[in-house]
Amino acid sequence: MKFDTPAGTNPIDRMKVVGQPHERVEGPLKTTGTAAYAYEHQQYPGAPVYGYVVGAAIAKGRIDSIDRTAAQHMPGVLAIVTAQDLGALGFGPLGKGDKNTANLLGGPDIEHYHQAVAIVVAESFEQARAAANAVHVAYTRGQGRFDLAQEKPNAKALTGSDADTATGDFETAFAAAPVQIDQTYTTPDQNHAMMEPFATIAWWEGDALSLWTSNQMIAWNREDLATTLSLPLEKVRIMSPYVGGGFGGKLFLRSDAVMASLGAKAVGRPVKLALPRPFIMNNATHRPATIQRIRLGATRDGKLVAIGHQSWSGDLPGGGPEVATQQTKLLYAGANRMTAMRLAELDLPEGNAMRAPGEAPGLMALEIAVDEMAEKLKMDPVAFRVLNDTQVDPEKPTRPFSQRNLVRCLKEGAEHFGWHRRLATPAQVREGRWLVGMGVAAAFRNNINIASAARVRLNDQGIVTVETDMTDIGTGSYTIIAQTAAEMMGVGIDRVVVRLGDSAFPVSSGSGGQFGANSSTSGVYAACVKLREAVAQRLGYDPERAEFADGLVRADNRSATLAEAAQAGELVAEGRIEWGNLSKQFQQSTFGAHFVEAAVDSFTGEIRVRRMLAVCAAGRILNPRTARSQMIGAMTMGVGGALMEELAVDKRFGFFVNHDLAGYEVPVHADIPHQEVHFIDEADATVSPMKAKGVGELGLAGVGAAVANAVYNATGVRVRDYPITLDKHLAGLPTLT
Ligand code: MOS
Repeated sequence: MKFDTPAGTNPIDRMKVVGQPHERVEGPLKTTGTAAYAYEHQQYPGAPVYGYVVGAAIAKGRIDSIDRTAAQHMPGVLAIVTAQDLGALGFGPLGKGDKNTANLLGGPDIEHYHQAVAIVVAESFEQARAAANAVHVAYTRGQGRFDLAQEKPNAKALTGSDADTATGDFETAFAAAPVQIDQTYTTPDQNHAMMEPFATIAWWEGDALSLWTSNQMIAWNREDLATTLSLPLEKVRIMSPYVGGGFGGKLFLRSDAVMASLGAKAVGRPVKLALPRPFIMNNATHRPATIQRIRLGATRDGKLVAIGHQSWSGDLPGGGPEVATQQTKLLYAGANRMTAMRLAELDLPEGNAMRAPGEAPGLMALEIAVDEMAEKLKMDPVAFRVLNDTQVDPEKPTRPFSQRNLVRCLKEGAEHFGWHRRLATPAQVREGRWLVGMGVAAAFRNNINIASAARVRLNDQGIVTVETDMTDIGTGSYTIIAQTAAEMMGVGIDRVVVRLGDSAFPVSSGSGGQFGANSSTSGVYAACVKLREAVAQRLGYDPERAEFADGLVRADNRSATLAEAAQAGELVAEGRIEWGNLSKQFQQSTFGAHFVEAAVDSFTGEIRVRRMLAVCAAGRILNPRTARSQMIGAMTMGVGGALMEELAVDKRFGFFVNHDLAGYEVPVHADIPHQEVHFIDEADATVSPMKAKGVGELGLAGVGAAVANAVYNATGVRVRDYPITLDKHLAGLPTLT
């Protein structure tokens, strides 16, 4: 790895552009409605037609017959494509790439409710929808498994990175611990509920397929779509320049892309297809529900000696677990520890990644348990966490954290929030009918590094253009990439053009796992190192001595503008960051502390969040404005997870009942109070030349428990099953006397 530049210093460390609170460079396009999302693009050959997907009406079983007679004679109908028709279109049976659990086109076997079974293509959207309703599918319903609690005894152990872990002797240490907590917590199935639905415009030119779509990971999706349709990779082009949110739901190829591609093949015209909101919740992925048992053992003076975390979740056969024990391996010291995940087979829709997969539900449980332990010890919950901090991986004590400032987050947060005003005994603070309390939780999310490439161009106007298949899912990628290129080339951000989200560009990290900010900008850094060398060479300067600042290149006593350097023709350079065995040497994580004040109506049980503060340690913050925006969005999602969000499972027929945004509640403006975000001033020189990590998921990790702990502190009623709806604590609330 080469984290230094030819000039011997890292230009990013100047922080003239990087680290500054620049406004979003694509902001005006978005606020004026001129940034095109997947369904809105106009660039394709010919006039488009419209697709509408028919979803399976059963969760498990078989299609007996599909009667399309009525539908195909309806006005405007051009084609109906089902699994039966693939041969006629020149396709074999579809694959599913390597990242999907269920087939994206079902039939004759049905794996989950609302699995796509047909696309109807018509001249208008309304015609396609009407005809889709007239496709009659007859099924034989099979026996499905839909209840996690019921399937729990059949859940299986896992291997690889999901295998059980054990350090010391947990059982003995826990049994002998003078102070113990042994509790079970549950988190429900959740949906990403991103603003922009899954949507695709697909068209064919000969045997080449192009898509405008809405996706977080361009390269993964290109590969998986090519595999699914048995096409050579170079015959597939994927473009997602703007993405209206994903939260993990758009990491993977979904049915909109596959079905639109099949429909377009059938009619020989571009097909526009958006999945309607009521279809998304059961057709696409969700965060799986968990049942988590946590056992903590401590000495009387508050040292954790035993930490045990077991988690059960379910997924379709061949799927994976919600990795809820992840943070428990790393968050607190303690000599004796165990984690174990068990996976049950369920025939519900596919479970998969949703923002902070693992840590979000894991911390919702663990950080209540820690609160319960602190109370039992009669210790302040901040002090208890500080006492049990670790600077090394507790399972591998020779392996340090690259940087870990959890304690500072907790202490500075407590100070700033006025934590000393919290009363340790719950239900003591009243304001009229309101009971008021404060809660805290640690935030923790691992830092993942993904190889990332970019191309940079310098033209004779001195304009630097960055091209990479990185996506901006609302996070600010355009802006931090522009800042990175500007800093590296010594120009203002107005001299940089950023082009993203196209599989014709070099393969980046993509957006996911909060790895996008650090990984993709590091790839741009690598490309700019190459471009600086090319500029120096073109000018005949010693690349080791060339300095880039104020739009000029200087070496010894000579200088030139960047525009002059490119007079003889555009300079183009490509670079890629790779990470070697860095993550073996160092545990890289991000840290934070969430503080919440909540009020509970003592008559109705209604919960109002009054104040929120997050203090974060996540390496260098590349742009405090966009990073804060990530944080407050995540904190808002955390309030949803604590108080509202729950996909209700119909355990007889196997589907999510509340499959729209009327029934699946997320916070609205009136639910969210003043939110404050502080970033610890740090730079993590180990992780990358940018010295940055990510905050997109850190902001969510721990919030649910901080809300839960605040509600408990207000009421004295401990709720261990999320979401904390008023029915769960109403009966126990103290009455006014
Ligand atoms: Mo994230 S759940 O990896 O988009």
